Amino acid sequence: MTTTESDAPTAAGSGSSASQAFRTAAREATAVPPERVDEVARAVLAGVHQAIREHDVTYPEFQAAKQWLMDVGEGGEWPLFLDVFVEHVVEEVAARTQDGTKGSIQGPYYLPGQAKLPWQAALPMRPGEKGTPLVFTGQVRDVAGDPVAAAELDVWHADDDGYYSGFAPGIPDGNLRGVVVSNGHGWFEITSVRPAPYQIPTDGPTGKLIAAAGWHAWRPAHLHLIVRAPGYRTITTQLYFPGGEWLDSDVAEATKPELVLDLRPQEDGPLRAEYDFVLERA
Ligand code: DHB
Ligand code: FE
Repeated sequence: MTTTESDAPTAAGSGSSASQAFRTAAREATAVPPERVDEVARAVLAGVHQAIREHDVTYPEFQAAKQWLMDVGEGGEWPLFLDVFVEHVVEEVAARTQDGTKGSIQGPYYLPGQAKLPWQAALPMRPGEKGTPLVFTGQVRDVAGDPVAAAELDVWHADDDGYYSGFAPGIPDGNLRGVVVSNGHGWFEITSVRPAPYQIPTDGPTGKLIAAAGWHAWRPAHLHLIVRAPGYRTITTQLYFPGGEWLDSDVAEATKPELVLDLRPQEDGPLRAEYDFVLERA
């Protein structure tokens, strides 16, 4: 396939694709009771009011903020913005009652229904997929240390340019995504390529805010995983590369020291990374 300027993968449009994915995801309808809406909405508004008072926010600044909020909505970037700047705290609250492998944010780029793959498998990739070959191995166990067979490792990650299939144009559907099923010993061995660090699209309203505030827009390179098995609590998490750039300054604040892969030292061949997952009973 030839790529022209217009269909070469770029970050532009990733935000609005994420909005579409969010709208079409099957999700349980949550009826939030009025007392709860009152309590939380009141607290959020009080936080905004306090920031305005504390920082003497002016009318022109208020109008600029209004314009920006409208742009985020019209650009379809709310899922992207909220997952970068807010989700990590929701995850922190959820983690208060969670044992086993630490969780992390899901982010805006999960797509359900990917190909089911055996315990030893390569993720779907383009012929000659660019990047350092990666073999990611490990075991799924329960909190008692017993292997969990037939656990699903729903994996997705960015390519060597930091783009996700399904969200940036020019990448085949399902690329670098798959559901790998652990074997009778709980083992898995996933062949892929090392993802590049991810940059929040700089051309949309979220990127504009980041630039206007003088922040950086980077997340360290990461693998996304949802690990599930019948009778166990599902874990949504991310794994990072030791020493990776932005590991200590993730814009999404979604790193944890426990979520760093073990890299096996080696002379040649693919990069070998290991991680074992621990599931608690549901
Ligand atoms: C965002 C992107 C990611 O790849 C991720 O893991 C978390 C958040 C985002 O742009 O919102
Ligand atoms: Fe990501």
